[in-house]
Amino acid sequence: MNLEQYKKAVEQLNLYAYHYYVLDDALTTDEVYDKLYHEVLEYEEANKEHISASSPTQRVGDSVSDGFTKAAHLSRMWSLEDVFNSEDLEKWLTKTYKLDKNISFYCEPKYDGASLNLIYEDGILTHGITRGDGEIGELITQNVKTIRSIPLTIEHKEKIEIRGEVVIYKEEFEKINQERAKNKEALFANPRNAAAGSLRQLDSSITASRNLVFLPYGVGENLLEQKLLSQKMDYIYSQGFKKPPLRATCSGFEEIEAVYEEMNKNRDSYEMMLDGMVIKVDEIASQIDMGYTVKNPRFSVAYKFPAVEKITRVKEIILQVGRTGAVTPVAIVEPTNIDGVVVERATLHNFDEIDRKDIRINDKVIILRSGDVIPKIIKVLTHERDGSEVEYKRPTECPVCKSELLDEGVLLKCQNLRCEARVINSIIYFASKPCLNIDGLGVKIVEALFNSGLVKSVVDLFDLTLEKLLTLEGFKDKKAQNLLDSLESAKGSEYWRFINSLGIEHIGEVASKTLSTNFGSGFIDATKEQIVACDGVGEEMAESLLEFVRVNRDTILRLQEILQPLEPLKREEAKENPFKGKSVVLTGSMSEPRDKIKETLESLGAKIVSSVSKKTDFVIYGEDAGSKYDKAMDLGVECLNEEEMRGKIEQA
Ligand code: IVH
Repeated sequence: MNLEQYKKAVEQLNLYAYHYYVLDDALTTDEVYDKLYHEVLEYEEANKEHISASSPTQRVGDSVSDGFTKAAHLSRMWSLEDVFNSEDLEKWLTKTYKLDKNISFYCEPKYDGASLNLIYEDGILTHGITRGDGEIGELITQNVKTIRSIPLTIEHKEKIEIRGEVVIYKEEFEKINQERAKNKEALFANPRNAAAGSLRQLDSSITASRNLVFLPYGVGENLLEQKLLSQKMDYIYSQGFKKPPLRATCSGFEEIEAVYEEMNKNRDSYEMMLDGMVIKVDEIASQIDMGYTVKNPRFSVAYKFPAVEKITRVKEIILQVGRTGAVTPVAIVEPTNIDGVVVERATLHNFDEIDRKDIRINDKVIILRSGDVIPKIIKVLTHERDGSEVEYKRPTECPVCKSELLDEGVLLKCQNLRCEARVINSIIYFASKPCLNIDGLGVKIVEALFNSGLVKSVVDLFDLTLEKLLTLEGFKDKKAQNLLDSLESAKGSEYWRFINSLGIEHIGEVASKTLSTNFGSGFIDATKEQIVACDGVGEEMAESLLEFVRVNRDTILRLQEILQPLEPLKREEAKENPFKGKSVVLTGSMSEPRDKIKETLESLGAKIVSSVSKKTDFVIYGEDAGSKYDKAMDLGVECLNEEEMRGKIEQA
């Protein structure tokens, strides 16, 4: 490699990285990138005097400092005034219009992370400074250089301060915390703390390992001539920075409200955490006229999203027993309104979680509710303890049937097959969508059927009659007949549904399909050798199946007689085609129901799996494909849209 080639290679690497980290749209594979990177590294080792400031090798996080020095921002970093509802927004707008009538607004997300000021001189990143008190922050340039969405060099040559927020994507945050839990380290309470903590590491290799992302939101000192902030921001993005997931210019109240609604509605689907929307006067001249109060710019405001975190108190810890006997603890908290929903319980996952977070009854805690997920406790306010808190003792007996629990460490299990909770939950599972898909068997009805003594196991469901059902409170002719009809329609279902509905531990939908195709009703006589010979079925599954059949043989046969599930047609070995024997993931919305596409591909001999890994052969994506698609791109898995998929099918 000569100097000329070296410069070209650095440029090429930066282009690859820009597409990968900024545009989320990889141009090549890791392998190609790594090879070129090593060639560049080799050249640099032999020609130290030629090392380019923009070389990706200059990002390596291997410096360890013994403290950060302070550094002054070239111009002050301000903070924002908050508004929380449309009335406050209207007031802010009235105030602002009084200063200047002819203005429009630039809206973008308020990212929840740590703010950072970047100084570029002569196109080279020279300083990365934390916000600090707004005037002076800490110099963390080495750490900042490890962040791949921050260009080391830009085309713009005049001195400029580029400001933005450093965030950790939600998925990455979960991963970091899982890893920390495994290593018995304290968990980060939220992505914001994780981002701030990762930025201020003395060992920059830790910062480098955290996959931080930089999202620019403005400029400090600059000589840019654009008249509108929106144009300045477009210019900044063009220098190699990431764009927000949503931005808009608005003329006034109604348009601002509409963008806010949209952003709030979609906030769960964005990769980063947002805590609101920032509204800024778009005209730079007007911004300058309006100026600042002691704390905040007058031309900008943060319109916060409804809180998803609230402080409440743990009143009690109750136990739930699932169909497999697994006992899960749930915290009952003082009812709190979070974003319009009254939250009364929070999941505790398992007993280790209670120990790890040291959650005690009567503790004040912060709970998080986001999207449709079950609220969880993210932090215990231990400094607010007053001695009234009571440590939680692991139960030794089933809260429902009182039989002794099996302690498996993280999990506690009720082993009594007749335990009421287990029976009720197995009936609900039996009727659920991926099983026999029987309408009208929700929690309330199943409990009523069980408590009345009419149904003690799934087999009893099929002895129900109109007369029997009419004895139950709330059951009139129509409701009773509907239930009988849907029970009737469960007969003659696909065979795999029958296997799945039995609720055999470790055997889910995919394994049920495999067993069904391979054995049909013969699955109860399959030997261990035959079972493990099936694709994707391991020892643990085989043992669980054999044990289940041993204990429940009569019930299985009886149910089979009642339900008459369809014996699967021995699938003709699919003829050669691009999907035969391949592992395929479907994601996003398609023009046909997902199940139909699944069926087509399965008939071609493909195996449909739910998550993307290195072993995945194809990802077929529809509209609004999300993280599975991204992961496939990361791993270099071939992605096909629906049309490309059909093309391949037709070729076959
Ligand atoms: S503008 C001129 N825009 O929120 C005003 N700030 O209280 C300077 N933040 O410290 C801030 N997203 O760290 C602005 N789109 C955004 C932002 C944003 C997050 C943070 C920033 C700042 C704080 C303001």
